[in-house]
Amino acid sequence: MEKLRIIGGHRLSGNVRISGAKNAVLPILASSLLTSGELVLHNVPNLADVRTMLKLLEGMGVKIDREGETVKLCASNVTSTVAPYELVKTMRASILVLCPLATRFGAARVSLPGGCTIGARPVDQHIQALRRMGADVQIDHGFVDLRCGRLSGRTIVTDMVTVTGTENIMMAAVLAEGRTVIENAAREPEVVDLANCLRAMGARIAGDGTSTIVIDGCEELHGAEHTVIPDRIEAGTFAAAAAATRGDVTLQNVDPEALSVVLDKIREAGAEIETGPDWIRVKMDRRPKAVSIRTEPHPGFPTDMQAQIMALDCVSEGLGRITETIFENRFMHVPELQRLGADIEVEGHTAIVRGVRQLQGARLMATDLRASASLVIAALAAEGESIVDRIYHLDRGYDGMEVKLRALGADIRRFRE
Ligand code: EPZ
Repeated sequence: MEKLRIIGGHRLSGNVRISGAKNAVLPILASSLLTSGELVLHNVPNLADVRTMLKLLEGMGVKIDREGETVKLCASNVTSTVAPYELVKTMRASILVLCPLATRFGAARVSLPGGCTIGARPVDQHIQALRRMGADVQIDHGFVDLRCGRLSGRTIVTDMVTVTGTENIMMAAVLAEGRTVIENAAREPEVVDLANCLRAMGARIAGDGTSTIVIDGCEELHGAEHTVIPDRIEAGTFAAAAAATRGDVTLQNVDPEALSVVLDKIREAGAEIETGPDWIRVKMDRRPKAVSIRTEPHPGFPTDMQAQIMALDCVSEGLGRITETIFENRFMHVPELQRLGADIEVEGHTAIVRGVRQLQGARLMATDLRASASLVIAALAAEGESIVDRIYHLDRGYDGMEVKLRALGADIRRFRE
């Protein structure tokens, strides 16, 4: 089992290149199933979740050619429409193959993702939308079993804002008969990136980035070339690490606009932040001040940055209130941060964080992707040695995090025990 050894107390400084966005590339990889043409993708990050999605697609017969950050996919000869449990259980985003399979092949057998540590994470909205569009969907022995003719465009109003739900419905609609309108749609930049890629493939989509997306179905889509947007959550994670270690870090290959709510909070904590067209400089030269956040769907504060801001609050001056409104159990990092000496009290969906002058290094266990990032940030700011276990969680969503941190001056090493 691989672990990270971190000796805290080093200020981060220098430049770091941010990789392509995990939550944009996963639906875009799944969209390769929508055409028999070749989809060429650039700025694809090297992540465990990307490798899982590629394995899933390959198992269905999609031809895949990967050279560095460029991936070419061709689904001209799909031989299976099954997404097996063994792969789906390791990555919930596998559900994103359901709608492309349904709308192109009229059949799909996709294992239900099951829950994860941050919540039950059902996919009822995805299934309800497909049924409304004319699919016969049965739940059979833990699988979603789907049969359909050509799907019919419908107006779909999701019960809550769902990111992959919006993305799945959009992909069902691009080859459906007639018009689909998605109300209450997710507005995340990753939804817009998927829409941009689908438009490059010939899809007719408007309104992405707003809460009403309109799609007019086509007979077929063609191949395309697309560059994946930068990962705003990886960028936010490094910005929080720079602030927590009172560093001076320039993030490159980023879109500051996609991160504005997070940057406002880090600026409120006392950091000096400068931005350019594709870079962000974060400079903190004194103890941060605690900030309060409440997670909301985009354009609100992103839930995927909640744990990282909590780590920053742990070493800040004052009290910060952190309210999680998206997932029912996304405070798994709290007991681990408390092992470092953090002063945190959880009351329902709100964590009250009182900053302490100094955290002490300790043995830690990662529980989920963003919790593990939060533990790394806190360990970088702590005095002494920390060991972070189960870092396979980190590898799901960060491309060589310790390599990038070491280049910024952190004393951090990956080792196998
Ligand atoms: C996406 O997950 C992201 N993953 C998550 O990032 C992110 O935290 C989340 O959106 C919220 O922004 C990918 O894009 C691959 P939701 P998703 O559907 O789509 C409930 C990370 O760390 N819901 O927007 O699964 C659900 O339980 C990951 O990178 C239903 O009840 O999240 C949750 O409470 C973690 N029924 C809320 O909606 C459904 O059918 C929002 O979930 C769908 C969702």
